[in-house]
Amino acid sequence: MTSRPGVTAVACSNFALCKYWGKADLERNVPAVPSLSMTVGALTTTTTVAPLGAAETADRVVLGGRPADAVTFARVAQHLDRLRARAGGGPRLEVTTANSFPTGAGLASSASAFAALTAAAARALGLTLGLEEQSDLARRASASAARSLHGGFVELPAGTPGTEWLPASPVEVAPSLDLRLLVAVTSESAKAVGSRDGMNRTMRTSPYYAAWVEQAPAELIRARAALAAGDLGALGEVVERSAMRMHASAMAAAPPILYWTSGTVEVLGAVRRLRERGVEAYFTIDAGPNVKVLCRAADAGQARSSLSAVRGVLTVIESGVGGPVQVREVPA
Ligand code: PMV
Repeated sequence: MTSRPGVTAVACSNFALCKYWGKADLERNVPAVPSLSMTVGALTTTTTVAPLGAAETADRVVLGGRPADAVTFARVAQHLDRLRARAGGGPRLEVTTANSFPTGAGLASSASAFAALTAAAARALGLTLGLEEQSDLARRASASAARSLHGGFVELPAGTPGTEWLPASPVEVAPSLDLRLLVAVTSESAKAVGSRDGMNRTMRTSPYYAAWVEQAPAELIRARAALAAGDLGALGEVVERSAMRMHASAMAAAPPILYWTSGTVEVLGAVRRLRERGVEAYFTIDAGPNVKVLCRAADAGQARSSLSAVRGVLTVIESGVGGPVQVREVPA
């Protein structure tokens, strides 16, 4: 805990309905494919950033009550350097952050983490930035984080080598579409291959990567149209295809990347059975073994009890659509 005045930001996680997987520019962290996500209200990161004294020569990062490991620290410090450069300088910072969910298990912890960090640190450094500017900055640390500044459904376009400005922005949704997301947690441990390494290996070695990049833009247009029309069936088809195609490209890498466990496959079967019983439910899977299931609010109870009964499912987290990042000053 800190006794210094600081800034606290709370950001929601997000899950991509159309996946980001692959970069057009590694140095600028520019996605090669457009992505579209739902902001997830039940999964949040709360981050407090406070300035350290002038004598301090390094940032401090405390994650879930413990000092961050070296890799996490380096990523956070690099992002703070980016924000200090934008502010024209500034003190070293103390970052205290906690997730409301397990870190690193494909629950998109880097998305809410870098969205909250960007919002809190920018304000602590005296920057007054709109959501788009914060989104563009967060994207440089983690592209999925660019989407977590906004609430609702959010699109991050693809860029090209050399793209500098690439923020995410909200997309239109039919008001009749009242959606819920159920996270079927099959593992709470950190994944073996992080999304950054996984997509880099896919780009370098998967013969399916080019096909993945080629088909993504048309799929995103279909998803956007389905959201605007309130057509869950059309949306769900695209959502499942996006996840399967992303994972197919990763599985074809050398060495192969398989994020799934037997529990993952069991959940896919349960989703199919729900649909056979007339419940419109659709799955997506990120860089981890957990499965996220999209359905109507009216069907969430039934879907939840089916998923909870699946062998290998530890718990089911239910979420509505989350809002944009919230920021408040913390007095000393
Ligand atoms: O932004 P990153 O490096 O955490 O990558 C996110 C990759 C996926 O979660 C698998 C897909 C996505 O669009 O969020």
